[in-house]
Amino acid sequence: MAKKIITSPTGMHDILPDQQKYFERIYRVVEDFASFYGFGKIETPLLEEAKLFFLGVGTSTDIVKKQMFIFKTKGGDLLALRPEGTAPVARSYVENGMLNLPQPVKLWYWGPFFRYERPQLGRFRQFHQFGFEIIGKKSPFIDAQLIKICYNILEELGIQNLSLEINSIGCLKCRKFFRKSLKNFLKKKTKELCPDCKKRLNQNPLRVLDCKNENCKRIVSESPQILNFLCQDCHTHFKEVLEYLEATDLPYYLNSHLVRGLDYYTKTVFEIGLKDEFGQKVGSLVGGGRYDDLIKLLGGKNTPACGAAGGIERIILLLKEQKIEIEEKDRPLVFLAQIGELAKKKGLNVLENLRRAKIKTFTDFSKDSLKAQLKLADKFNIRYVLILGQKEAMENTIILKDMKKGTQEILKVENLIKKIKKKI
Ligand code: HAM
Repeated sequence: MAKKIITSPTGMHDILPDQQKYFERIYRVVEDFASFYGFGKIETPLLEEAKLFFLGVGTSTDIVKKQMFIFKTKGGDLLALRPEGTAPVARSYVENGMLNLPQPVKLWYWGPFFRYERPQLGRFRQFHQFGFEIIGKKSPFIDAQLIKICYNILEELGIQNLSLEINSIGCLKCRKFFRKSLKNFLKKKTKELCPDCKKRLNQNPLRVLDCKNENCKRIVSESPQILNFLCQDCHTHFKEVLEYLEATDLPYYLNSHLVRGLDYYTKTVFEIGLKDEFGQKVGSLVGGGRYDDLIKLLGGKNTPACGAAGGIERIILLLKEQKIEIEEKDRPLVFLAQIGELAKKKGLNVLENLRRAKIKTFTDFSKDSLKAQLKLADKFNIRYVLILGQKEAMENTIILKDMKKGTQEILKVENLIKKIKKKI
């Protein structure tokens, strides 16, 4: 019987060398934006006290109810693998007294997150996010700027057909009235709701609004609209966010059913995804919104905040789907081929000189035949091949072959670096 091999856990994947260029490209773009717009990088632990997410994300959300990896330590602490980054950043803001820094505090992060979901295309149990959080300012300009930054990151990566959906879910005060009205409306339709929404009706009726079940969607299309319930402050805030977006020519779609699956949101919520043939957003690449009550909920002062996060694996899937070429940062420019023992020995020094000169070089000392080595250089699309044979090794020379032009010249080894630098 064949031996069963150990595989990675369900929904968690190795990131192999040929995938790194995607991660590196997205990281570089995000880092450039973060540094230009004055965000400081923050790294929080992969594990947090589970109660941070109970409190911050909310016990009635799918993330906390169904998707958290929770365990008890030997010491009896209840810890969770972080399912998202906003609550940890807010915790860190309070814990590290960032309130005493000039406000707003602008932070960005990048790293793995964990959700116990049913794995499918674009949905994993371990995935990566980049995120931006701006804490300490309530201006609608912040909401618009964050949306713009995330939209531009996706555009910079070359992704086409983006769609931005936006909504306001009000503050705790005005949402109370909406919730009541929505609940009354939905109660009359209880029998027609899906089993999940029947449960949501009492615990979190707003989540019925973004249920994907066709029957629920039909009911929701006739339900009260949250925008009609916004208080003056929330209404003005939302109007100004939209005005800022219009001023920067960013197209948006007002989706009054967008509520997002995390309880900390107040006022603006948004998602960026791809348009389908009807111009509607499908899937979500980036999601975010304002969370003016979270810092206080975690023991801090009353501090407004807004943020967004993007899913790296989903972006990579799209880069591949839309056939967007990614230049490898450290692609080798030179191949060093050697034939025979003496050439191998001399080759070690040549290779080290190339490294010192920061000329990215590829070689394979396990191959002896020149034909096999040239084939390898061709496979990696390397233009310049250095050939060191027995004769060259004895004469302290080396052949430089230009694979594109099909020409070659013999150089003195001591002139090699200067000559190659001129060419690349
Ligand atoms: P989220 O919408 O739960 O928001 O996640 C943000 C993005 O992470 C999603 O748009 C998606 O691209 C990606 N994502 C989420 N779950 C998965 C998964 N299981 N597999 C692959 N990708 C996934 C948040 O996490 C909030 N913390 C965003 C935020 C920051 N709000 C304010 N500040």
